[in-house]
Amino acid sequence: MPTIDFGPSTIGSLREVQLQRMRRTLHHAYANSPHYRRGFDAAGLRPDDLKSLADLARFPFTTKADLRANYPFGMFAVPMDQVVRIHASSGTTGQPTVVGYTADDIAMWSNNVARCIHAAGGRPGMKVHVAYGYGLFTGGLGAHYGAEALGCAVIPMSGGQTEKQVQLITDFKPEVIMITPSYMLALLDEFRRQGKDPRASSLRYGIFGAEPWTAEMRREIEQAFAIDATDIYGLSEVIGPGVAQEFVTDKGGCTIWEDHFYPEVIDPETGEVLPEGSEGELVFTSLTKQALPIIRYRTRDLTRLMPGLELPMRRMAKITGRSDDMMIIRGVNVFPTQIEEQILKCAGLAPHFMIEISRPGRMDEVCIQVERRDGIDADQSVAEGRRLGAFVKDIIGISARIDVMPPATVARSVGKAQRVRDLRPVAA
Ligand code: DLL
Repeated sequence: MPTIDFGPSTIGSLREVQLQRMRRTLHHAYANSPHYRRGFDAAGLRPDDLKSLADLARFPFTTKADLRANYPFGMFAVPMDQVVRIHASSGTTGQPTVVGYTADDIAMWSNNVARCIHAAGGRPGMKVHVAYGYGLFTGGLGAHYGAEALGCAVIPMSGGQTEKQVQLITDFKPEVIMITPSYMLALLDEFRRQGKDPRASSLRYGIFGAEPWTAEMRREIEQAFAIDATDIYGLSEVIGPGVAQEFVTDKGGCTIWEDHFYPEVIDPETGEVLPEGSEGELVFTSLTKQALPIIRYRTRDLTRLMPGLELPMRRMAKITGRSDDMMIIRGVNVFPTQIEEQILKCAGLAPHFMIEISRPGRMDEVCIQVERRDGIDADQSVAEGRRLGAFVKDIIGISARIDVMPPATVARSVGKAQRVRDLRPVAA
């Protein structure tokens, strides 16, 4: 039966492991990735300049733009014959952000997700229903491999087919579910629609992430299903799900698996590292990754670090927002620039638009108000609205209501364009 290793047991030994692994990572990146070599050279730095963990602050950041500039595989630091998996997530434009994994990377990732499931209450022998999407998104396969590594039986349901999700939960009787919190609420409605008591289901532990969620959502899910709900955090550029996980025993924020992912919190404006405990943008450096070592990756997620509770590893507070304009709509990452790209394909529409996101019921709803161009009549504008809706659905992957407005009616912003009105409840 697999035993779970939660890493170094003291802060001192954790810091030693981190320093040694960070040095190795910088050397690996410098030797094998022209992108990092150029960046270090431009900053006048060599991997050996890292004498202490604090020296990391001298090294350059990595951003989504770097991954995009090196699309698709330019940042990989191993030959392609060592890469066993490729995933991708949304970029700021149609071009996705591509990430790769060696066999050792997959094993490391799986072990970290196994830690997550264990911390959330899952144990070997349990059944895990995975309702994160399978495919290029890291959620489904990341959860899947982690559950297998823990010694669980995986039910690889993926997202969608809500009616069947409820049927399989009823029939297969999983103890654990891994799913976005908003989709869990949709399952709740479906349980009720089918006349099934969600509290009578076999589920005992829910592991929720990939999008922000509130304390009220936790309360509602826990009470409705009679389960313990914990938070899982991650991002594809760093590994996928399983960078950090909340322990069911305290539900006090996600513990960062710091022996693999080294966190810093910076001022998003100046890039300065902030004193421990201050709120700012989370930055990660991978410590054991081979195919795509990631150095000082700017997550754009806003949070603060807190001391460890169960372990020497630190926790992160709930994400309070982002320092860029990425939206997460029904679990799909979307940038306003991607919507703009689709509008520009519709000759009858002008690129003046406002995206309004609300959550009138369980699920996010999106309305795009966009102006028709001068000389476009009402019939044409209906057709253009339909085209835009189809592009947004097919290319970005979200359903949106399109309101085509007369010219010069969408509010113009002064200075930086305000493209998004987000009316959803925010995480407490
Ligand atoms: O969402 C990986 C994941 C899958 C995490 C399943 C957890 C569960 P990306 O698609 O690259 O990867 O999106 C990463 O999602 O930077 C956050 O803004 C947001 N996010 C992820 N988990 C949480 C969470 C996956 N627990 C982006 N709370 C991140 C709030 C989250 N936001």
